[in-house]
Amino acid sequence: MTLLRSEGIDVHYGRVQVLYDVSIEVNEGEFVALLGTNGAGKSTWLKAVSNLVTPSAGKVFFDGREITALPPDEIVARGLGHVPSGRGTLPDLTIDENLRLGGHLLRNEKAKRREAIDEIYATFPWMKDRRTQLAGTLSGGEQQMLGIGRALVNRPKLLMIDELSLGLAPIVVEEIYEQIAKLNANGLTILIVEQNATLAMEVVERVLFMEKGRVQFSGRGRDLLARKDLLRSVFLGAKR
Ligand SMILES: Nc1ncnc2c1ncn2[C@@H]1O[C@H](COP(=O)(O)OP(=O)(O)O)[C@@H](O)[C@H]1O
Ligand SMILES: [Mg+2]
Repeated sequence: MTLLRSEGIDVHYGRVQVLYDVSIEVNEGEFVALLGTNGAGKSTWLKAVSNLVTPSAGKVFFDGREITALPPDEIVARGLGHVPSGRGTLPDLTIDENLRLGGHLLRNEKAKRREAIDEIYATFPWMKDRRTQLAGTLSGGEQQMLGIGRALVNRPKLLMIDELSLGLAPIVVEEIYEQIAKLNANGLTILIVEQNATLAMEVVERVLFMEKGRVQFSGRGRDLLARKDLLRSVFLGAKR
């Protein structure tokens, strides 16, 4: 079943068009990676889906209903989680405060929010042990996991993570991928944006490749690898 469908999305920043007719489907249970060089429009597409930027054309459907013009909070409440690049944590707040803020939509249902946070603590016990630690003093990988934890408080059906591994050491990247794969195995649909194409292609079921605001490919990583016309050596040469 299709969980997310973007149909013919165009986005302009002022007069400059950066997305052209972007149609992407994500099926329930999938783990997909959106790849592409810097400036291809990946983050913009995620923002268009979350209605953080307003598309100039196209529609977005999630979980069977159109969400194109819904307020971003309402989209989150429907189960679409978005971890922005740069982790999306607040450095001067503690782990616990960050998680509570992530669940601000549940602020009037404190018991429900507490329960959701306790579940995250059960999944990531280190967060519980260090719940009074300031987010700004966490390592890069821990901040990324906390950013993901913040989105999980809302019990998403689909989690979109922008720049999953950017700036993280290879060993940390490996751990994070393991955690994400576990979340996926437990039923969460996941879309990651990943700079490290080589790595992502090894891990996910399906990759999407975007260039200059257009989706150029959707399929298995190894089939993308065969498309020398799409993959520039610069991109494939990215260090893992
Ligand atoms: N707020 C903005 N205002 C104007 N141009 C932007 C803005 N954000 C991104 N862009 C431009 O849109 C294009 C796509 O950017 P982005 O979606 O961030 O690409 P990616 O995430 O693939 O690196 C780039 O040319 C970028 O410079
Ligand atoms: Mg980006």
